[in-house]
Amino acid sequence: MSQAWAEETMKRILKKLENTAPQIGANFPHVSKEGTYNDEPFSWVSGFWAGILWLAYQQTGREEYAKYAAEAEKKLDIMLDGFDRIDHDAGFIWQPSAGANYRLTGNEDSRRRCLKAASFLASRFHLKGNYIQAWNKEPGWAIVDCTMNLALLYWASREIDNPRFAQIADAHAQTVLNYIVRPDGSTNHIISFDAESGEYMEALGGQGNAADSAWARGAAWAMYGLALCYHFTENPSYLDGAKRVCHFFIANLPEDYVAHWDFRVERFSDTPRDTSAAACAACGMLEIAKHVPECEKAFYENTAQRMLQSLTKNYSNLEDDSRQELLRGGTGNFPAGVNINVGIIYGDYFYMEAISRLLGNDNIFWYENKKAKA
Ligand code: GLY
Repeated sequence: MSQAWAEETMKRILKKLENTAPQIGANFPHVSKEGTYNDEPFSWVSGFWAGILWLAYQQTGREEYAKYAAEAEKKLDIMLDGFDRIDHDAGFIWQPSAGANYRLTGNEDSRRRCLKAASFLASRFHLKGNYIQAWNKEPGWAIVDCTMNLALLYWASREIDNPRFAQIADAHAQTVLNYIVRPDGSTNHIISFDAESGEYMEALGGQGNAADSAWARGAAWAMYGLALCYHFTENPSYLDGAKRVCHFFIANLPEDYVAHWDFRVERFSDTPRDTSAAACAACGMLEIAKHVPECEKAFYENTAQRMLQSLTKNYSNLEDDSRQELLRGGTGNFPAGVNINVGIIYGDYFYMEAISRLLGNDNIFWYENKKAKA
């Protein structure tokens, strides 16, 4: 696959967005079942549409994309100021929205939003147990998803030249390596501590099939999250962890290279895939490829490209203007029976980010803000 393929695919994505952007505007799409995204404001996914708009702005310079994204970002203040309306998902929400805005335009309000979000995330750290609390009702629970949110803490430390956020991120990342990433590279979803003593209790199945199964999107969160931790710290244990998860992920892919929703369920012809896991994992592999020796790069790059090619050929709606989602075949929460085999906004976001990475764009929204520091 060539640069020409990535250019062509990005062109097709941008053409589609010319239609969907004015339809969705400054709203909060989450799931598309019949080809039209719902509007579901104020959840953990509320930053991803803005992220797609900023990626489109980066590619085209079209002001309408920046306008919709900035408007959506302002609406999110209701969450940021609402305190108990958010949990550990601060990075997912504000990095692709406010973080991208600050990175691309230098907007100071966006910078403050990210710092506030980072402060909120840091405040969830448990000194006993060394973990960032996931949700608000379970003080003893940490989850694999949060690995992706650590980039916000590393970003904040660099932004204000103060190591305390990064120290919290490091402590939690070590907990991920100790208790979430298993020796074979598969991952737990929820890990539970005694919040009073900090003693580790057990792993729980969460959005995976069982406590000892292997939820595909969880693996993608761990892989990409740990690779981003390495980007910020150059601590080799993070890169080793990301690679271990990545190798498990690749070894368990089906023939078309798009993961089933859990790697440890019996596979039938109608077992749901999770295209969002594939898209996020492709970003993780492309991040890993940046940090490994030259002789290893092609393995990660080629696998990511193969997954993206399959997503594009077998699961995308790029030419179908009757559907708003870029990708079909996402699975939100299989055990809860929610959002199975649908379009999901974070799948679309990571798919577009991965194609943008293939085009050589290293101005990734999860990174530090070089522009504002220059
Ligand atoms: N962060 C929740 C999920 O991946 O479904």
